[in-house]
Amino acid sequence: MASTAFFIATLLTLCISYPATSQKIASPPSFAPAPAPGPHFVNLADLLSVAGPFHTFLNYLNQTQVIKTFQNQANDTDQGITIFVPKDSAFSAIKKPAFANLTQDQLKSLLLLHAIPKYYSLSEFKNLSSSGPVNTFAGGPYALNLTDASGLIRIGSDWANTKITSSVYSTYPVAVYEVDKVLLPKAIFSVEPPMAPAPAPTPDESPVAADAPTGAKGVAGPKGSDSKKSDSGSSMVVVGVMSYLAVVASVAML
Ligand SMILES: *[C@@H]1O[C@H](CO)[C@@H](O)[C@H](O)[C@H]1NC(C)=O
Ligand SMILES: *[C@@H]1O[C@H](CO)[C@@H](O)[C@H](O)[C@H]1NC(C)=O
Ligand SMILES: *[C@@H]1O[C@H](CO)[C@@H](O)[C@H](O)[C@H]1NC(C)=O
Ligand SMILES: *[C@@H]1O[C@H](CO)[C@@H](O)[C@H](O)[C@H]1NC(C)=O
Ligand SMILES: *[C@@H]1O[C@H](CO)[C@@H](O)[C@H](O)[C@H]1NC(C)=O
Repeated sequence: MASTAFFIATLLTLCISYPATSQKIASPPSFAPAPAPGPHFVNLADLLSVAGPFHTFLNYLNQTQVIKTFQNQANDTDQGITIFVPKDSAFSAIKKPAFANLTQDQLKSLLLLHAIPKYYSLSEFKNLSSSGPVNTFAGGPYALNLTDASGLIRIGSDWANTKITSSVYSTYPVAVYEVDKVLLPKAIFSVEPPMAPAPAPTPDESPVAADAPTGAKGVAGPKGSDSKKSDSGSSMVVVGVMSYLAVVASVAML
């Protein structure tokens, strides 16, 4: 009899104390810092090495350390970053000396010109196109003309007029858009750089060709996985709710 009473008492204690203690442990770490989980960290070098092919651009970023500037800005969740990444075929379309002759500072400026120190989702380009030339990470004379014609987003930089052909990644604070030409500012190239003779078909040309028909409609279908794409923070909210549910479930199971 006494042992049964003890058993029940123990059970009751467990029932009462367990949820209380596990709540205490589970709740504060996940909910105390107000707005759910922070934005997902994006490693730009990793992203650019698997998407694309963007090896030429990535190699230049690495060689000049501009990758650190970009990553630092990507980590800065106040403003974020928007990067226009030319495909390897865009670089091979221009005669090699054009880039080989650049000083390290010119090369840095050229790379910095391919980014805006602020996150822009595709839908925000409409506003940008009406606001005149947009300043880039390169500052000073390095601005870009952005126009949005029903979703076809064109980027003008003196000698080059390119367009966004694909959204590689777009979740605040990081946007990476593929472009089909290297931006060529007059501040670096006093004359138009000569194009390579024949756009020799390379293995990476086939996805380009596949892009072409949809390219007319502006941003082609997703090249990367769909889960990587999001114009807003909505996926973040879902993650927040999911982790909340997971915590509730684990508490309930106890
Ligand atoms: C990046 O550059 C460093 C030298 O600055 C080099 O050691 C490293 O191998 C490079 N990494 C890649 C992925 O190219
Ligand atoms: C960016 O943030 C990551 C993760 O917090 C960190 O490992 C990395 O060193 C940071 N990089 C820069 C350039 O700030
Ligand atoms: C590159 O430099 C070489 C030698 O300095 C010069 O002859 C050539 O014209 C330059 N090419 C370009 C595209 O500027
Ligand atoms: C576009 O600009 C208008 C007025 O300047 C502003 O109210 C609106 O929020 C902006 N839209 C986007 C998507 O930034
Ligand atoms: C932007 O467009 C204006 C007007 O067409 C032009 O004068 C200017 O040179 C362009 N700037 C760039 C960087 O392409």
